[in-house]
Amino acid sequence: MIRYEEQLPSEVLNILQSARNNSTKLTELIRQGGYVPPSMDLMIDAITTLAMGKNLLLKGPTGAGKTKFAETLSYLFQQPMYSINCSVDLDAESLMGFKTLAYQDEKQVIEFVPGPVTNAMTNGTFLYIDEINMAKPETLPLINGVLDYRRTVTNPFTNEMITAKEGFNVIAAINEGYIGTVPLNEALKNRFIIIDVPYIEGDQLKELIKTNTKLTDHRTIDLFVQLSADLIAAVNQGKLAEEAASIRALLDACDLSTVIPVKRAILRAIVDKLSEERERELVMNIAETLFP
Ligand SMILES: Nc1ncnc2c1ncn2[C@@H]1O[C@H](COP(=O)(O)OP(=O)(O)O)[C@@H](O)[C@H]1O
Ligand SMILES: [Mg+2]
Repeated sequence: MIRYEEQLPSEVLNILQSARNNSTKLTELIRQGGYVPPSMDLMIDAITTLAMGKNLLLKGPTGAGKTKFAETLSYLFQQPMYSINCSVDLDAESLMGFKTLAYQDEKQVIEFVPGPVTNAMTNGTFLYIDEINMAKPETLPLINGVLDYRRTVTNPFTNEMITAKEGFNVIAAINEGYIGTVPLNEALKNRFIIIDVPYIEGDQLKELIKTNTKLTDHRTIDLFVQLSADLIAAVNQGKLAEEAASIRALLDACDLSTVIPVKRAILRAIVDKLSEERERELVMNIAETLFP
């Protein structure tokens, strides 16, 4: 497991330490670390952004570790994190919460069950908004106010004005251009500091395979690192869709390959996710040259 504390410059560690949450509340919502950054600069910039109370947008292809990155920030700040998975079904209630009937001393009362936005704001925690550009454009303006420096929003269900407690911060993730997503509107994008999260390569990827998969054979690990490099090159040449080089899929293939033949592992974990025959053939050819 990567020891960030040993690799971060001391001034960043100082910023981090003074921004760290010392409360013992909601500690079950503090996530585990484990993100391997392509360079420490990414980590430094993300920590600085959050320590200054600014919103952070992680931008990159699927399986690049965006969620892992956000979880690692929760870990480094020791800050609990609520999260939202955006989809076209996401509505105001799934963000803010909803009203429900409850009993109090045998009397029926209307109770409000807070949603992730309300919870994160009132508790002063991180809020992770995954795939923010999957949400319907009409849902998102609701949280514009949340992202503003005012950190204030009116709960449409209770008409209560909520102002975020200190410590509240937003981390969002997007995969621009992916099917089903809409370009993030400028007003929203404008409220974030943006960090590009690429697929990791080379020695870092090698380390990740060693620590996160069951694969131990060094030669096979090296070949998987080469496979990933070849896939990324094909993506850059426009021959493959970006998600073909997903690190998530690669790690799955590494795991499977410890039991079933490597090429079949690659077929299941990587190739069968691709819809175009031309792309499938290309990946199988690359696999064939590495694992004849
Ligand atoms: N740079 C990385 N560091 C650590 N884990 C990674 C990295 N890239 C990919 N992974 C692993 O790949 C899988 C998918 O990562 P995830 O964070 O869900 O990606 P994303 O949110 O970008 O789609 C996870 O198991 C994660 O641990
Ligand atoms: Mg994710």
